[in-house]
Amino acid sequence: MILDRAEIIGLLTTTDESEIRVLRTRAETTCLKVFGSDVHLRGIIEFSNYCRQDCLYCGLRRSNIGQPRYRMGLSEIVDAAEKAASLGFKTIVLQSGEDLYYSVSDIARLIETIKSRLDVAVTLSLGQRDKAAYRSWAAAGADRYLLRHETSNPVLYAYLHPGHSLDERIDHLHMLREAGFQIGAGNMVGLPGQTVDDIAGDLLLMKQLEVDMAGIGPFVPNPCTPLANSNGGTLDLVLREMAILRVLMPDVMIPATTALDTLDLHGRELALRWGANVMMPNVTPTKYRRMYTLYPGKTSVDEDPKQSADCMRLRVRSCGRSIATGYGHSPRYLRNKQLPGAQTWEAKQ
Ligand code: 5AD
Repeated sequence: MILDRAEIIGLLTTTDESEIRVLRTRAETTCLKVFGSDVHLRGIIEFSNYCRQDCLYCGLRRSNIGQPRYRMGLSEIVDAAEKAASLGFKTIVLQSGEDLYYSVSDIARLIETIKSRLDVAVTLSLGQRDKAAYRSWAAAGADRYLLRHETSNPVLYAYLHPGHSLDERIDHLHMLREAGFQIGAGNMVGLPGQTVDDIAGDLLLMKQLEVDMAGIGPFVPNPCTPLANSNGGTLDLVLREMAILRVLMPDVMIPATTALDTLDLHGRELALRWGANVMMPNVTPTKYRRMYTLYPGKTSVDEDPKQSADCMRLRVRSCGRSIATGYGHSPRYLRNKQLPGAQTWEAKQ
């Protein structure tokens, strides 16, 4: 469905309960029509919390010198991936701060090892690197790359990310797509100074980029950052943005983001009812979890990978939804793959 900016702003701001109900129902129905009741599970391994960036909102920012840091060894990461695969995950997400300790070829070898030993798709979430790195990791077999655009307001983007610009971020999303990845963008809701017009811009940008995946979550102020005293995002606005995205882009993959659980005990279940179709249980070894503090109030920090997986399966089923058994590639990607020569993916084969 096509919605223009004014209609999107109308849906983000309306106080008419029946209009909000129609939006939610429409998002849920669209999701069920495209994906059935299946929810895709992705096991996420947060393998390093070192970061060269200094994003104002994030607890991993390099200026947060009180933050204890850790790095998992490459074989330890492979062990965690094996554990995740044995728990039934068909996608492993490798996430870290922007940590140059791991060379481009270290990561390529890691991907090759995981892909050769395990029957899984691999998603990377490693921040901005260069075109050569993206190409090398795609060639090594990684399938997807998450790089949220964070906010579509260029002034706010530049304020939150010292030394960087929104244009540069968008260039990286293009580079990732050209390298052959399914790409994930996404934004935080409730950033200081952000308006509903900006959120409409986030939605229109994701539509324009034809992203495969979209992570939308609340901004949760972190006391160890310069934004400690800001207000965070609300559950209502995050859910509305997700629902509008589902209506705008019926076959995009939308995770029920982890940060939602800091606002409501059942935040992620709610997201499934507002258009989400992906959950990302944490499969990081327990001893590291407390140190991966993007924001405060992170849940599941005392669980082990099996407990997190079991808990997420229960939560999905509690919503009357089922667990998908396939890799969960994006429908947009699968469609394009079949067009001869339409994608650089073809060249990669
Ligand atoms: N609140 C909510 N989300 C955050 N992220 C980082 N810091 C915060 C915060 N304080 C999100 C960013 C990043 C993702 C990995 O985590 O959107 O892309």
